[in-house]
Amino acid sequence: MNLKILSIVGARPQLVKLAPIAAALTAEGHRHVIVHTGQHYDADLSDVFFTGLGIPDPDVHLGVGSGSHGVQTGAVMAALDPVLEAERPDWVLVYGDTNSTLAGAVSAVKQHLPVAHLEAGLRSFNRRMPEEHNRVLTDHAADLLLAPTDEAMRHLAAEGLADRAVRTGDVMVDVCLRVRDGVLADGSTPPALPEGIDPAEPYLVATLHRAENTDDADRLAMLVDALACLPVQVALLAHPRLLSRAETHGIKLERGAVRAGRPLPYAGMVAAVLGSQGVVTDSGGLQKEAFLLARPCTTLRTETEWPETLENGWNELIADPGALGEARWTAIATRPAPDAARGTPYGDGRAAEAVAAILAERARR
Ligand code: UD1
Repeated sequence: MNLKILSIVGARPQLVKLAPIAAALTAEGHRHVIVHTGQHYDADLSDVFFTGLGIPDPDVHLGVGSGSHGVQTGAVMAALDPVLEAERPDWVLVYGDTNSTLAGAVSAVKQHLPVAHLEAGLRSFNRRMPEEHNRVLTDHAADLLLAPTDEAMRHLAAEGLADRAVRTGDVMVDVCLRVRDGVLADGSTPPALPEGIDPAEPYLVATLHRAENTDDADRLAMLVDALACLPVQVALLAHPRLLSRAETHGIKLERGAVRAGRPLPYAGMVAAVLGSQGVVTDSGGLQKEAFLLARPCTTLRTETEWPETLENGWNELIADPGALGEARWTAIATRPAPDAARGTPYGDGRAAEAVAAILAERARR
């Protein structure tokens, strides 16, 4: 049965997940309509992912841009109404936990369109995070919950959602391993690291963008200080939100060990991580990419939605590096990769195929 499936995306991590899904849906002969909300509009956060990962151009661009949570979420909903009305797809597919995810799910259920949530069931249990509101509300609105892990399935069952949930594995494994193989086969191109980083010497890859780390001036200053004092080069790939908050708070990013540069396209990021000694981040996706690429990760948060990465010390949660003392913090952030095996808690790299099969099996007509 050929279906019409409409994907709603808008922010960088959703484009990474869209890539293997778009390929799998097309391979199965489904009609795939891509709607870009415009939540991310900088080329570095959007266009380079379409070109780099071979995703077809969006069919519809809503162009909503930035704003407070209510403004941004509401703008996506208002702009989606006529699009969903005109398209009437068999499935609306929403991804992850951004404001675009929640807006897409709510708009679709109000038009009685079946909604599937990719990356369902993740929880931080931190109600201060906008992503936590978005993922909980989206899971409860959606008809089909595509869960990446056993842990996600347990969370959904605990919330009474087991009968709508299916474990598919994680589509980020599909894309990460494919791109890793391409990078390793190519081998010749050094990663595009910030100016001043010598790729022949050890370096850490760092990113920082979450609201709870960037919006408070004291917290952001503490985190940048912690990166600056490390005895190894730190390649800080700066999200526009970090640049804008650092400027507002008068915090200089480039000092001590830190050299700041632009966010990288997906293959560039994989190459940068593969060339690195390890990763320091608050990104969910990068924690998992470090795990898949066998680099130790230090996560600047109190909790993670990907607890499987914590097994055997591949990932460490350090919410307050400033309180640890420089020696202890340095030992953690620069630790070598553990000897222990990592297992395959996120699946075998064929999750997008599983998603395509389940959408066909569970379609209403
Ligand atoms: C969003 C998601 C977050 C995800 C992240 C990935 C929500 C609530 N948050 O956070 O879960 O991890 O995307 O990147 O949906 N900005 C630009 N150019 C852009 C986009 C943003 O300059 O193309 C700046 C603006 O100053 C804007 C700020 O970043 O105000 C925040 O952008 P927004 O999309 O609201 O959230 P992110 O921080 O990117």
